[in-house]
This record gives sequence, C-alpha cells and structure tokens, in this order.
Amino acid sequence: MASSMILKLACLVVLCLVVGAPLTQGAVTCGQVTSALSPCISYLRNGGTVPAGCCSGIKSLNSGAQTTADRQAVCNCIKTASGSISGINYSLASGLPGKCGVSIPYKISPNTDCKNVK
Ligand SMILES: *[C@@H]1O[C@H](CO)[C@@H](O)[C@H](O)[C@H]1NC(C)=O
Repeated sequence: MASSMILKLACLVVLCLVVGAPLTQGAVTCGQVTSALSPCISYLRNGGTVPAGCCSGIKSLNSGAQTTADRQAVCNCIKTASGSISGINYSLASGLPGKCGVSIPYKISPNTDCKNVK
C-alpha cells in the first residue's frame, strides 16, 4: 500500500521533471506553452475531469516562469493560443488553475492584459 503510493509519487516527480526541464532554463517559448496546455484543450471545451497531463503542464509553466519577463511571455502565449483554439469555455478556463492547485495571477483569456502581469 505505502510502497505503491511512493511509486506513484515517484512517477509524478519524474513526469514533472521531464515536462518541466526545458522550462527551467529561462526564456519560455510559445511552443512550450502550447505543448504544456495541449492536454487541457478537451477540458477547456467540454469540462468534465481535468486530465492529469493538463495540470502537470500548467504547474511546470508556472514554476518555469520565474521572472516578470517570463510570466509576461507565458501570458502572451496563452493569450494567443487561447484565441486560436475554437470553442474554449472561458469560465472553465478561469477555474482551471484552481482545479490544478496552482494560482496564476491572471485570467486565461484572449482579452488578458499581459502588460499588467508582474
Ligand atoms: C461553460 O462551462 C460552465 C460550467 O461547466 C457552464 O455552466 C456554461 O454553460 C459553459 N458555457 C458555454 C458557453 O458552454
């Protein structure tokens, strides 16, 4: 029982390392943002259960964006990406970071003003 729990935790940690590794090197690219968010698209359209890969993507984006410039870059990428994906339910989108236990200081929306992101 306990050991399978540890195994699961270890798997999660490895997953985060794999997903998060390219993000810890400073500049965050939009390619990284869209690939991190791609598991979230079905949830953003239809709701239901948040896919596990979606939360780990959001968490790695959040922990990879250490500076104001990085956070603004991520914000701009999310803004562009969310505008290009059709059928997103923005009330689901704004609740998503909370569902993943992450606090993101701006809304996931095409109208977000990323210049105010600190
Ligand atoms: C968005 O999702 C919420 C919560 O599931 C739902 O109440 C609302 O009707 C949805 N809006 C659209 C436009 O689908």
